[in-house]
Amino acid sequence: MDRTVKARWERTSDEFQETADISVGINWGWDDIDDETLLGDLEGKDVLELGCGGGQDTAALAERGATVTGIDLSREQLGHATALFDEHDLEIDVAEGSVTALPFGADQFDLAFNTWVFQWVPDLQACFEEAYRVLRPGGRLVFSMPHPFFSLTDAETHKLEESYFDTGRHVLVDHREDYPNMVTYRRRVSDVHNALREAGFVVDELKEPGSSDPGDHEAGPWGESPPELRAKIPRVLIVAATAE
Ligand SMILES: C[S@@+](CC[C@H](N)C(=O)[O-])C[C@H]1O[C@@H](n2cnc3c(N)ncnc32)[C@H](O)[C@@H]1O
Repeated sequence: MDRTVKARWERTSDEFQETADISVGINWGWDDIDDETLLGDLEGKDVLELGCGGGQDTAALAERGATVTGIDLSREQLGHATALFDEHDLEIDVAEGSVTALPFGADQFDLAFNTWVFQWVPDLQACFEEAYRVLRPGGRLVFSMPHPFFSLTDAETHKLEESYFDTGRHVLVDHREDYPNMVTYRRRVSDVHNALREAGFVVDELKEPGSSDPGDHEAGPWGESPPELRAKIPRVLIVAATAE
């Protein structure tokens, strides 16, 4: 767990929820995704959301019939999540903690899931090992994350500004008073694949959705993903793996 990541989420949770304005649903980071194939029938399944944030995906999983538990590093984010669950009259357990040290026993879940969390996690290997431990044999880990290429490219010039091979901790300085810097972790696609394999998963599917037509894309809430750039490189990487 990285303390700056936690401090940043505690500080920015309210404004994130307000500006991102995420709807209840599975927010892969790309609209046209065949959820049914990736997640399967969730009726009666035990599902763990790793980094549930404001709970919009968590609520959608519960509405599909799963018994869902959410874990997140940020108390503020969990506050937004529990308020949303109350609004939707959903009973969902949440835990405050890191996806790298799950406070759950072995073999408890059929599916571990998340969207847009792993860029904040320093030790992805530990997270995958923990997911493997709490999944029942044959259970699945399905997630989306920012595509490793996307954050290397300047949103205005579309130039590749940084090296794909410079992986590890990346700090974006926030000059506002009382705002912790934004710390993320960069990896290659092969790093993600190898960490999954090391943890005992078999990768079933990789998806890099997109098209070369800017008209197919939206700009995102912070203008961070202009349609012309999204038409050149994938913005999201989606992975489905099975715990052997
Ligand atoms: C962009 S949000 C994504 C959450 C949710 N899927 C959504 O779309 O809002 C990232 C979340 O990851 C959580 N997070 C970051 N590092 C974490 C860690 N090591 N363990 C648990 N949660 C973590 C943050 O607190 C934040 O709520």
